[in-house]
Amino acid sequence: MKNFKRTLITSALPYANGPVHIGHLAGVYVPADIYARYLRLRGEEVAFIGGSDEHGVPITLKAKKEGIKPQDVVDKYHGMIKDSFEKFGISFDVYSRTSAKIHHETASEIFKTLYDKGAFIEQTSEQFYDEEANQFLADRYITGTCPKCNYEKAYGDQCESCGSTLNATDLVDPKSVLSGNKPMMRTTKHWFLPLDKYEPWLREWILEEHKEWKPNVYGQCKSWIDGGLNPRAVTRDLDWGIPVPVEGAEGKVLYVWFDAPIGYISATKELTPDWEKWWKDPETKLVHFIGKDNIVFHCIIFPVVLKAEGSYILPENVPANEFLNLEGDKISTSRNWAVWLHEYLEDFPGKEDVLKYTLTANAPETKDNDFTWKDFQTRNNSELVAIFGNFVNRALVLTDKYYDGIVPAAGELTQYDQQTLDEIINLKREVEKSIDTYHFREALKGAMELARLGNKYLAEMEPWKVVKTDPERVKTILNTALQITANLTIIFEPFLPFTTEKLRGFMNLEKLDWDQLGRTDLISGGHKIKTPELLFEKIEDDAIQTQVDKLLATKKVNELEQAQVSPAKENIEYEDFAKLDIRIGTIIAAEKVAKTKKLLRLTIDTGIDKRTVVSGIAEYFEPEKIIGQQVSILVNLAPKNLKGIESQGMILMAENADGALVFVTADKKIKEGSEVR
Ligand code: 2FM
Ligand code: ZN
Repeated sequence: MKNFKRTLITSALPYANGPVHIGHLAGVYVPADIYARYLRLRGEEVAFIGGSDEHGVPITLKAKKEGIKPQDVVDKYHGMIKDSFEKFGISFDVYSRTSAKIHHETASEIFKTLYDKGAFIEQTSEQFYDEEANQFLADRYITGTCPKCNYEKAYGDQCESCGSTLNATDLVDPKSVLSGNKPMMRTTKHWFLPLDKYEPWLREWILEEHKEWKPNVYGQCKSWIDGGLNPRAVTRDLDWGIPVPVEGAEGKVLYVWFDAPIGYISATKELTPDWEKWWKDPETKLVHFIGKDNIVFHCIIFPVVLKAEGSYILPENVPANEFLNLEGDKISTSRNWAVWLHEYLEDFPGKEDVLKYTLTANAPETKDNDFTWKDFQTRNNSELVAIFGNFVNRALVLTDKYYDGIVPAAGELTQYDQQTLDEIINLKREVEKSIDTYHFREALKGAMELARLGNKYLAEMEPWKVVKTDPERVKTILNTALQITANLTIIFEPFLPFTTEKLRGFMNLEKLDWDQLGRTDLISGGHKIKTPELLFEKIEDDAIQTQVDKLLATKKVNELEQAQVSPAKENIEYEDFAKLDIRIGTIIAAEKVAKTKKLLRLTIDTGIDKRTVVSGIAEYFEPEKIIGQQVSILVNLAPKNLKGIESQGMILMAENADGALVFVTADKKIKEGSEVR
């Protein structure tokens, strides 16, 4: 294996069009953070890069929908995302953003260098264009009927009903999201990166020289390369992004996937003026942490950009994860099917490490995995509390109780004591090997083995019994247990940094280096520990049920939305309902209200009186055809002036999702004035 001087760790830049959720954490930020913390603990030189991805079409759509500017959207979510990561202790050396000036400059410069070198090809193609809005339409700006399932609101790139990937030109009856009009075809010029030209090089570099990459990553690269690579457009017709820095490119921006990975470089520049040693020195090891949907961009497209530029290093590894599902369903921002980090932080204060533990123990390293609240509870109660917490608590409480918190010096070790302590070194090696090869679940299991070892040791030694027969021996037992505890503060440091900090506090210990892991003299006789508290607390059923209920409510909302039925309103008391005076009446006269499209002036015999009601049903009913129609009428609605006519009440109508109206009435003819209740 190659020897490197330093490690540059990048983590995928999350889109700043929504908050971050457990899928982000499990797939990218937790493993990257473990890796960074571990290397730092080993005394290695590390830069851990993060930032928000603030360009791309979904951000412009979100802005449009909310009636604000794209910059406002990204300002809001960048802030939220950054805050969540900070609170979870993701230890970025820099967390930047792609709307930053330094990033615009860096990305422009790299584009320009490639352009000047002749690395791009120019091509014109036909694209959808909205003549009213005067702009080209990205796929997401076009909706229409899905050719596969007939869903009427499919997007130009995907149908959210049947999940098919589409081309905008596949849509039946395409419409522009901007004007609602049918879009036209227009030619436009773009710059393409000829990936096909790099195929022999990619084959050699990945398929021959990086056989050690994870099978899911290697396999995806192989299938892209074997499938034949095509030139990829790196510019777009859009008004949000980094302007294409060449003449004749007015109104065009860099494709978001061209600029986003360059964000890693810009962020490094923000971190240090000495950024070139991180990106241009072959003794730097570059590792990209990403999710599986980002593989082609990080293993093929971005490396081709770096290669074409010529002065940058290439990634040494790209340990991409698969996806984390939530309670059996794909996590989805648009369907609100997620555990949002900012909400978790509110619902489970002080339990950041519990979530990180669960997500690592169940990480989607080799296949998609499922997060369930039940599993979260079990991991906490049966592992963190019952094993790790229990062991530490016993060791500390017994020391407090028997020796007033003063660590007893060890006497002669038995063979079993020694064996137990020797095991720490073995576990250390296992954990190292796992982290070095990006197997973080395995690594965490190894760390947990040390807690199990301690737990087993105390359970077998039973110092609480021995104290009655051989108090001298108890000193050695507790000293041994406390050495294990001190070692736990090291071995868990990359995974559960809040917990180890707390534990060091209980033990009155300084932070120790990874090198010290395995030593059996980390804490000496006479050292005073603090009065112990609990390291973890049990999570009760009702806390879990609250979360499950929240998801069930989301599911219900989504089902109704799919069926185009609006959700139920909030409950009211009977007294509220009883205030409504609804009667059966008959329409005895009807005419159109002049100069309006929707309004009819009705005369209703309510049984109480004959009165005028103005009703917005003219598009559905012809006046002469509804004379004699029985209706339900709300007679005690305060009168209202509509187009100069006093309307005295309201006719009840049923309306479906398409807006079609029908009268709500009794199922037989009944006397006017009958009450509806
Ligand atoms: O998939 C995503 O969420 C992208 N925003 C990741 C970008 S990674 C890098 F290229 F910046
Ligand atoms: Zn479909």
